Amino acid sequence: MTAGTDARLLGLPPGDLTVTAGIGPRLVQSSDSHLPGAKDLPPAAHEAIAPSDRGGDLLLQICASDPLVPPVAAAALLARPGLRERWRQSGGRGPHVPVSDGQTAPRNVLGFVDGIIGPRTPAEQQRDLWLSGPAPVAGGTIAVVRRMVVDVARFAALPLAEQEAVFGRRRDTGIPLSGGAIADGPDLGAKTPDGRYLVPAAAHIRRAHANVVGAGLMLRRSYSIDTPAPGLLFVSFQNDLHTFTATLASMESADALLPFTTTTASGTFLILPGFDERRPLGSTLFPS
Ligand code: HEM
Repeated sequence: MTAGTDARLLGLPPGDLTVTAGIGPRLVQSSDSHLPGAKDLPPAAHEAIAPSDRGGDLLLQICASDPLVPPVAAAALLARPGLRERWRQSGGRGPHVPVSDGQTAPRNVLGFVDGIIGPRTPAEQQRDLWLSGPAPVAGGTIAVVRRMVVDVARFAALPLAEQEAVFGRRRDTGIPLSGGAIADGPDLGAKTPDGRYLVPAAAHIRRAHANVVGAGLMLRRSYSIDTPAPGLLFVSFQNDLHTFTATLASMESADALLPFTTTTASGTFLILPGFDERRPLGSTLFPS
């Protein structure tokens, strides 16, 4: 399909179409209950999730610059006997803001640049992003997908300085309130002459900071959504589900952003290792 030779794309040029496939905890458990990906997400605060919008056995993340391509690809991939669609969410990424050499990030529905900090170097990606083993999952990773509806009107009513205090970064430039460049992490110890933290105690980038949480980095690649309500399709990739759950727990204890959000759909999936003709997708977990 990505090569443009599949008739089911109805003649549309695939462009930069990608399809990322993952399997849910129930299926991972049916292969080996000790594998990463076998554990589900625990319930969390600020959630209102209908049972039908939680979890699932299969994740298909379908991305393309041409917004016409994903729904057509989805229809083709879902047209299989026995496959039932559980929940879907469309989203988009706006114009990209340059962050550092070769790295960009879009703004989110609250106007802030989103997706700056994460595992960037090969060493960080090796350490925190990719699963190095056991053998059936080596080269895969763990995805967390959450539809987070955001109270945009209440946030927008705040003065700019208070909006920036919620995140801990400047809205226009993306620079941390402690200064530096956009690609920099915050200096969490920096204080004003009268002793207040430049990055407030409840700022999102403090509560979610890997050192504050005591966990690894996650690759966040989120999408802005407009239906069923404005918000964020939060997507993170990490080689340990604990990185996500510990970050969310740290946010729940104080984060100024979380009360503006309601999570209405959620799931975690083992992203399958790459494949080729000799080693089909999923064959390391489910040998034929
Ligand atoms: C509607 C929900 C959310 C919005 C709008 C949002 C937005 C942002 C923004 C604008 C930043 C600062 C720039 C950057 O580094 O990308 C940020 C940082 C971050 N967010 Fe979120 N976020 C949301 C939810 C979450 C959730 C649920 C988690 C994980 C449990 C999370 C984890 C992080 C992390 C780890 C950072 C980097 C912190 C640092 O080290 O500076 N975010 N987020």
